[in-house]
Amino acid sequence: MDFFKTRDDSYTAYSNRYRDYYHTLAGALEQARKLFLAPADISDGMNILDLGFGLGYNTAVALAECCELNILAIENEVDILKAIKSLPPPQGLEKEFAFLVKLHKKVTITDDKDNIVELLLGNALHLVPTLPTGFFDRIFFDPFSPERQP
Ligand SMILES: C[S@@+](CC[C@H](N)C(=O)[O-])C[C@H]1O[C@@H](n2cnc3c(N)ncnc32)[C@H](O)[C@@H]1O
Repeated sequence: MDFFKTRDDSYTAYSNRYRDYYHTLAGALEQARKLFLAPADISDGMNILDLGFGLGYNTAVALAECCELNILAIENEVDILKAIKSLPPPQGLEKEFAFLVKLHKKVTITDDKDNIVELLLGNALHLVPTLPTGFFDRIFFDPFSPERQP
């Protein structure tokens, strides 16, 4: 998979299926921090649903900030998960991305801060109705643009 450098020096990928980039070209890492992490106001121990896990930027910035998070990641494309190991990690998040690489071999991983990330591989439209109501404290909802994925 090819990666494209965005304007904050972090890298994104392009989906041929959706004909869209995984992140804004203005800055993949900045998008994760400003659009997802900052407004979510997360704290230690929260249950988080990461819908459209992709390259894992939203989860990575959360892992860097907190401990004892319980993150359930939903993703339906195996290839993007495999691509994480080739992604040049953004500066300052090398440890988090080295951790997330393990997701293509194991479905549940735990880091040295007791953050747990569990991967559910499949279509969110089918998986979300099976999840417990009222369990998640925050949801990172990150599909492709509405034009590409209405
Ligand atoms: C814009 S990208 C998300 C980028 C990602 N949050 C990141 O930080 O790298 C959208 C992601 O949602 C996934 N996706 C789209 N529709 C989905 C669905 N119905 N079920 C599960 N995953 C889906 C795509 O495969 C893609 O990885």
